[in-house]
Amino acid sequence: MPSLEILPGIYAVGVVDWNMRSFHGHTYTTKRGTSYNSYLIVDDKIALIDTVYGPFTEELIQNIQKIIPLEKISYVIANHVETDHSGALPALMKLCPNAQVLGTAKCREGLYKNYYCDWNFKEVKTGDSVSLGKKTLSFIEAPMIHWPDSMFTYCPQESLLMPNDAFGQHLASSFIFTDEVDPCVLWDEAAKYYANILWPLGAIISKKIAEIQKLGIPIKVIAPSHGLIWRKNPMEIVAKYLSWANNEVKPKAVIVYETMWGSTEKMARKIAQGIIDSGIEVKLFDINNADRTEVIKEMLDSRFFIFGSSTHDNGMLPSMAGFLEFMRGLAPKNRFACAFGSFGWAGGAVKDIEKIINASGIPLSLLGLGIKYRPDENELAACLEFGKNIVKADKVN
Ligand code: FEO
Repeated sequence: MPSLEILPGIYAVGVVDWNMRSFHGHTYTTKRGTSYNSYLIVDDKIALIDTVYGPFTEELIQNIQKIIPLEKISYVIANHVETDHSGALPALMKLCPNAQVLGTAKCREGLYKNYYCDWNFKEVKTGDSVSLGKKTLSFIEAPMIHWPDSMFTYCPQESLLMPNDAFGQHLASSFIFTDEVDPCVLWDEAAKYYANILWPLGAIISKKIAEIQKLGIPIKVIAPSHGLIWRKNPMEIVAKYLSWANNEVKPKAVIVYETMWGSTEKMARKIAQGIIDSGIEVKLFDINNADRTEVIKEMLDSRFFIFGSSTHDNGMLPSMAGFLEFMRGLAPKNRFACAFGSFGWAGGAVKDIEKIINASGIPLSLLGLGIKYRPDENELAACLEFGKNIVKADKVN
């Protein structure tokens, strides 16, 4: 994100991380990079909203220094403790030692446990505000969006919401506003971000959006801390978040499987055909050749999940086990799931998968389909029928 005056007296001073490919450890592939957005508000007093990931500290400092000397900063607003937004704080605070850090009580605790710092910290709560002169900043606690410490900052004079992680995208760009980039890429990244980071928090998100709507505050610009800024129809992303949070799905099936010698794959393809023949969109992934982040994104708007694995050592294969463990944490609602797989002498994978489906709270659409060794013509016909029955079962339910 290039340094730019995005609104009168408000500057984007964050950095673009063009090379980030594995975010959150290795839980999220960021094939288009990301950005760590930070906003500088220059008024009678000066406030900095969030910082950046530690390795980019120097670039943040230079971006700020192009606009004002660092020692003029009065307030550093820490919307969120996570290191991608607070990593530059220790170095920055050495250069503006008189600045006060503002954040939630959980933020104070989290920053201390991350940096063992002794900054002048002021706890703020929903409804608190600070005056910069002509502009004001007010705060809205947003616990679990996406950590307990999270907070949104709002500037009423510009109708600007700075919601940190919410409404972001992992998208490196030389542009600054969402309306300047390819909308297909933008929405693909916004969905991927929600699916992989925020999906389990849907109930909290819809409640928070309702709370903000009740406050009746106008929102003309949403400036998240990752990706591009929503200035053209910003409520479009809010509506999209509500739809995802409410688990709105479409007639679509995602099939994810792992195969040893190809039999489970043959089953997967026939099951897919049965679903397609029933008029439903299908996405099919061999988990060992797929990007898990992309698979989870495809699941976000899908009604049907179908998981398969060959049996190995009386259980499912390890890549599928890892994938399903991640899926279980998403706690998906309003879906149906089922299992399939081939086995040699003793099954086990189908039951393993069904256990995880049950633990995730997803209703089984059908009892699992297991086939011994390689499926023959009759068994492949049974797979085709299994696919059709997945769709029929939904109509019955
Ligand atoms: Fe972008 Fe929860 O950090």
